[in-house]
Amino acid sequence: MTPTKFPTQFLWGAATASYQIEGAWNEDGKGESIWDRFSHTPGKINNGETGDEACDHYHRYPEDIALMRQLGLKAYRFSVSWPRILPAGTGRISEAGLDFYDRLTDALLAANIEPFITLHHWDYPQALFEQGGWINRDNLPAFADYAAVLAKRLGDRIQRWTTFNEPGVIAWNGYADGEHAPGEKDIPKAMQVTHNLMVAHGLAVQALRGVDPKLEIGIVLSQWGVDPASDDPADIAAADHAWNAGETAFLHPLFTGHYHPEMVEALGEKFPATRPGDMALIAQKLDFLGINSYSRSVISASQGRLSPIPGSEYTEMNWEVCAPAFRRVLNRINNNYRVPPIYITENGAAFPDKISPDGHIHDERRLDYLRQHFTQVRLAMQDGVDIRGYFVWSLLDNFEWAFGFSKRFGLIHVDFETQKRIIKDSGLWYSHVISTNTVE
Ligand code: FCB
Repeated sequence: MTPTKFPTQFLWGAATASYQIEGAWNEDGKGESIWDRFSHTPGKINNGETGDEACDHYHRYPEDIALMRQLGLKAYRFSVSWPRILPAGTGRISEAGLDFYDRLTDALLAANIEPFITLHHWDYPQALFEQGGWINRDNLPAFADYAAVLAKRLGDRIQRWTTFNEPGVIAWNGYADGEHAPGEKDIPKAMQVTHNLMVAHGLAVQALRGVDPKLEIGIVLSQWGVDPASDDPADIAAADHAWNAGETAFLHPLFTGHYHPEMVEALGEKFPATRPGDMALIAQKLDFLGINSYSRSVISASQGRLSPIPGSEYTEMNWEVCAPAFRRVLNRINNNYRVPPIYITENGAAFPDKISPDGHIHDERRLDYLRQHFTQVRLAMQDGVDIRGYFVWSLLDNFEWAFGFSKRFGLIHVDFETQKRIIKDSGLWYSHVISTNTVE
């Protein structure tokens, strides 16, 4: 295979999220999050597991940064636990919580690794949830206040900020199918949350710019490819409709200032309440867009979503491996919207890993998955999509939400009994990609 060279400034990194790795769920005055409550509720998480300890990163971050350094990461994407900073979601600030992210930031910078921060990756304060959560418009300014508290403390050292990670998952999995915290099953509510999250995003962008207009601000969206099952015009039209009515829920308002007409029509009565001024707030200029993508959907006019696709490989998540779909979806976003520069903020794969007798983890399938996806992203760049960096999900094996510890996505293996870390073959290979800027 011809080696694929990346631009010199390309920002290679890895990503994590607070609830999935930190542990220390009730230490140093941290407030309860909806994920603490959800995982402590019997029957919600595979095997009754919780993020109470997770990777114990709250205590082991120096060791984890040493590993990042060994990998040669140029950047590290992490999220902040909101109730660690504001235990009740609003009001009193916890200095101990701020101190943790302060130490983490300084240690990253000392290791020459750029901190790339996400304000909210799903661990919403339980106290705010009890006041109506994302449904209650009166709660939205609390997100902007939280953003400002963090920017005042870390904005002198962190340049790139994202508001939400995958708002669609917050709304859909949290409020419609109930598989994530807070576990509600109510589609109209989920639609209202979809809109309210966009308003909260807009308020947070204003708050961050208010603290420091030089910060670079973005949002992270989950955008899987949507492909037609065949070249039949009916399948193509069905796939286009699935994209327009379902997958543009955030892209469209953020980059055009209104919801896609096919989405408005499809929702009918379930379309959320909006207020004058909302759309302008939502469509404020962003400095970059984060895209998370793992797989694709295949749509047929007669059968809807097809799965499994005969002959395709699937990961442990039951997600199809289809790297060319990544290139296609990046082009689609770039062609349909005037988007700012893009960072791939998550991509990776869960496979059943084993520690071999030689003490290593020979995870060829993950390595191959990453190689294919890196290559397709490079092709998308050659097609004209402005992509500036790539964060592999994930740095460490971690708590995979409702699946508990059963799905391993890490470049680094974690033994959850002993907390011992071992860099997998995919991680060693990735460090070579980073040091040569080349995928072979
Ligand atoms: C994404 C989430 C991330 C992780 C990966 C596998 O949707 O942002 O936390 O669960 O999927």
